[in-house]
Amino acid sequence: ETKLIKANADSEVSEPVLMAAEVLKKGGLVAIPTETVYGLAANALDENAVAGIFDAKGRPQDNPLIVHIAEISELQPLVTDIPEKARLLAKAFWPGPLTMIFKRSPLIPAVVSAGLDSVAIRMPSHPLARAIIKAAGVPLAAPSANLSGSPSPTCAQHVLQDLNGRIPLIIDGGTCNVGLESTVVSLVGETPALLRPGGISVEQLSAVIGEITIDKGILNKLEDNRKVSSPGMKYKHYSPKANVIILDGDSDLYCKYVNSIPNAFGLCFQEDIPKLTVPYVSFGSEKDDSEQAHLLFNALRELDRRGAKTVYARAPKQTGVSLAVYNRLLRAAGFQVIKIS
Ligand code: TXA
Ligand code: MG
Repeated sequence: ETKLIKANADSEVSEPVLMAAEVLKKGGLVAIPTETVYGLAANALDENAVAGIFDAKGRPQDNPLIVHIAEISELQPLVTDIPEKARLLAKAFWPGPLTMIFKRSPLIPAVVSAGLDSVAIRMPSHPLARAIIKAAGVPLAAPSANLSGSPSPTCAQHVLQDLNGRIPLIIDGGTCNVGLESTVVSLVGETPALLRPGGISVEQLSAVIGEITIDKGILNKLEDNRKVSSPGMKYKHYSPKANVIILDGDSDLYCKYVNSIPNAFGLCFQEDIPKLTVPYVSFGSEKDDSEQAHLLFNALRELDRRGAKTVYARAPKQTGVSLAVYNRLLRAAGFQVIKIS
């Protein structure tokens, strides 16, 4: 049976933090809150513990994990080299929702990186995540704490829905602030490359390190899966049970379109609500990309709870944090987009 324990974010050595550390030190798994989404953590230096993560989630073996640290001094031993641009990004955005890809040091077991010679590292800002990493005394490998393929968990209840009975402990630290997974940037090639958009936008990254390439897989369905730069791009992700279709058009066109379809559900912006005659779930204001990020995954789970079969989603913009929202929605929709005009 899975224990769910509420924890207070403002005390460093609380009972829940020590319990989590105890399980982790023994090679067990604990779901922990971070500012992005909940993570399913294990000792990153223990390959058996890490193997347990793949089992609990039903995660494909070739999809590498992110290693979480609490202090910048923990980075050096985990990588072979820290490029100057990585130092600049760490200074600007760590702790926070940014993951960087480095060349992997031999300290990191191959299973963490799914055999790649690189490793993903992130320093979360959530006080409980940081306290648990410190108390465990080791870096923690942690993917999102959902069953592989379902939307990432943004509260402890979501983790319980997916992993009840599969892991010993969930630390409940309330709702995640950002609500979408971290931005992933690779620093192993010539030019820094965005592999997954997230809570730190491309615009913010460019302001610090200049040119950054946007991987094609972020907005396009890749024809050849062998060519992906980040294995996570291959998989159908964030999928509710409903069939999701994105409608790209303004509020009036969107509402008119959805209203004309019997049994449709809307996944809409707040601004659309007064014009809709079909049932809907909103994911925030058209004008507030952080709010959209914060609400999207919960909205996808809510649609399942309400038994939605066909969902028409209003398309977010592709700038700022909206790019991340659009990227997740595209995957939830299996890349089905209809342009309406
Ligand atoms: O916000 C987050 O990043 C959350 C919290 C828990 O920290 N974690 C998370 O992990 O989203 P996960 O496993 O769901 O996503 C990790 C992504 C995957 O798309 C994976 O392919 C990519 O990072 N990744 C990990 N290591 C990589 C590597 N060495 N090279 C390229 N991509 C990598
Ligand atoms: Mg995930």
